Amino acid sequence: MIKQIEALLSFTTTKTLRPAVLDLVAELNENKSTTIQPNTESDLTVKKSHLIKDLEQIYESYTIERAHHYCTQLIKGLSKTKYSNYNDINLNRWKEYEDIETDSLWIFKNRDRSGAHNSKYWGNYIPQIPNQLLRRYTKPNHWVLDPFLGSGTTLIECKKLGRNGMGIELQKEVADIAEKNIDSQFDLVTKEIQTEIIHANSATVDLKPMMEKLQIPNFHFNIYHPPYWDIIQFSDSENDLSNAATLDEFLNQFKAVLNNTLPHLEKNRFFAIVISDKYEKGEWIPLGFKTMEMVQQLGHLLKSIIVKNFDTTKGKQNQEGLWRYRALAGGFYIFKHEYIFLFQKKN
Ligand SMILES: C[S@@+](CC[C@H](N)C(=O)[O-])C[C@H]1O[C@@H](n2cnc3c(N)ncnc32)[C@H](O)[C@@H]1O
Repeated sequence: MIKQIEALLSFTTTKTLRPAVLDLVAELNENKSTTIQPNTESDLTVKKSHLIKDLEQIYESYTIERAHHYCTQLIKGLSKTKYSNYNDINLNRWKEYEDIETDSLWIFKNRDRSGAHNSKYWGNYIPQIPNQLLRRYTKPNHWVLDPFLGSGTTLIECKKLGRNGMGIELQKEVADIAEKNIDSQFDLVTKEIQTEIIHANSATVDLKPMMEKLQIPNFHFNIYHPPYWDIIQFSDSENDLSNAATLDEFLNQFKAVLNNTLPHLEKNRFFAIVISDKYEKGEWIPLGFKTMEMVQQLGHLLKSIIVKNFDTTKGKQNQEGLWRYRALAGGFYIFKHEYIFLFQKKN
């Protein structure tokens, strides 16, 4: 394929070049596969539909110089790969990653229910959150830490994407559910992916022995989905962040979790916090921004604030009319979003 595109460079007018481009497109269309391996000496595969779009761009060029420029770009994109330190997105083929979010507003209409995912655990997040973040901030075989594991959504996604994952969960019965969920996820990528669950308090657990046993020098990405303070009470334990008596106590408990887990994240790598605000006694409590400020004060670099749509919680289902009435009468807006704060570890 690359040789055929190189041959396009020998045409000196767009009129003579165009039929040759059409021949190439026809050849691609005859191929039943949706991906193409343009260079037999490399493993790189590209989406056929994107290759056809690239050829269309060459075809539509007004000048032969432009057409040659697009040919050269395409040859480069098909022969060389370019990666950042953080993921396995081939930057030379960046247009192919259409389903990877780069905007700060995320709207997901439906929850991903594929594989082992289910929405049975009250307070779990939609799998698209870890899916997007793992693909942006990790490479295959990297290690991911989730200190608020819940039903295991992050580790299921890790398994699907070929990342290793460690999760910490305070409640034994919830950790057991997570283990079953994760085990039932077919490992699509490789049998070598490891997932480890620790039943413990994330603020105090010593991760070193487990990390040494698994030969993990450091984690490559941490993802935190803490209780949104007391919106859902997860257990009776005083170590459970959902039982914090005050906002300050919640922030201090969360800070203790960060102080205990962030030292194991490699410096300059990213971590994400998924959290929302809360509404209490007629007042909007900016839990998200308070948490964000606390983390900034720890010296980490805020890289993005993502706002994600948030559907009606199970608790408010069938009460939408009532909440709309309350909002109209009480002068407030109903929560329909949550935040994902992206930080880069700086110390
Ligand atoms: C919002 S849920 C996480 C849900 C998870 N992302 C999922 O998709 O299932 C928060 C979880 O943190 C747990 N938790 C609360 N305090 C904790 C602590 N100090 N250490 C470890 N886990 C804790 C709760 O039991 C709960 O399962």
